[in-house]
Amino acid sequence: MERKNISSPSFFIGKGQGDDLISFGSGQPDLPPPPQVYDILPTYRSFKYGLIQGQENLRDALAKQYKDAHMDQFVVTNGASEALDLSLRALYEPGAKVCLPRPYYYSYPHNVALASMEVRYYDLERGKINLENFKEQAKHCKIVVINSPANPTGSAQDIETLKEIEKFCEDKHIWILSDEVYKDLIYERENYLIEGQRVITINSFSKTYSMCGFRTGYLYARDPEFLQKVIEMKTHTSMNTNILGQEMAFEATKVSQEFLDEQLKIWKERRDLFYEGLTGLGLDVWKPEGAFYLFPKFPGKNPTDVVNDLYHDHKVITYDGHWFGSPTRVRFSYALDKEKIEEGLERIKHYLDQ
Ligand SMILES: Cc1ncc(COP(=O)(O)O)c(C=O)c1O
Repeated sequence: MERKNISSPSFFIGKGQGDDLISFGSGQPDLPPPPQVYDILPTYRSFKYGLIQGQENLRDALAKQYKDAHMDQFVVTNGASEALDLSLRALYEPGAKVCLPRPYYYSYPHNVALASMEVRYYDLERGKINLENFKEQAKHCKIVVINSPANPTGSAQDIETLKEIEKFCEDKHIWILSDEVYKDLIYERENYLIEGQRVITINSFSKTYSMCGFRTGYLYARDPEFLQKVIEMKTHTSMNTNILGQEMAFEATKVSQEFLDEQLKIWKERRDLFYEGLTGLGLDVWKPEGAFYLFPKFPGKNPTDVVNDLYHDHKVITYDGHWFGSPTRVRFSYALDKEKIEEGLERIKHYLDQ
């Protein structure tokens, strides 16, 4: 394999991976979407522009999933990615600061920069929020981003912590962007949904329903002025979200809880297998409560070297912790079947033994 230096996730995203590669890279589920999602394809015949805010059937179905919500409070977006981008830009104010977790989902600092605002970080402790530190940083900010369960740590924050953040931000009039894309992938307890007048909930069909490529997500907010700004910006940027993706997402909203529970069981088995495998190799890693990531340290090794060596010499894809604001760790996504996880562990062992 030609030895190119790997400096960003874009090196791997969307690439065909070849039979012999084991990818712990991209955070995209390998499980298929529920069949009703693609059963619509043979008869689907709609090709015109859709509503900028999103198709009514989908928004109506989404509103039923949230307490006291109305379809007018939703904007359907090109994945959670567009929802994050539009939200930050709609809340822009000269000199305003945005408080991000660190380690963070790698797009967050770029989203803040593109919205011409400044970043402050609250550092996580083995994936968990330290409330004192959070408040110290957040009090200087107009917006905070909460991501629970999180990428890249897999950590879900305690419900008490989330409630305290909710109250703190409400009292201080701070906006919360709650990135909930892993809300259904949580193993230890029910998810707790942050609520409030200045809360923007961001979600997506990418992870729960394995529909990453269809780019269907949404934001839900209660502030009419904010919603109007978002719709206006979307009118002059991407316009409506792909209407086929929306129709498929609408079908996904009808999927039974049993289906989601079955999927969760598979994810949990994989987490346990991979967690035990990595700890068995002597790596420093915590057991994540959600999402599908593990974030180990390789003692005595630089993560950039680990990512390059594993890819070029062992055909294993992993993501460099530097991309997530964590210069000592390497991110593994376990969106792979058990056989591949086992083979991947063998290759990592081989690498460590050398
Ligand atoms: C925390 C987080 N937020 C947002 C996204 C973007 O998701 P989407 O595919 O819906 O744009 C991802 C994707 O990995 C993610 O991990």
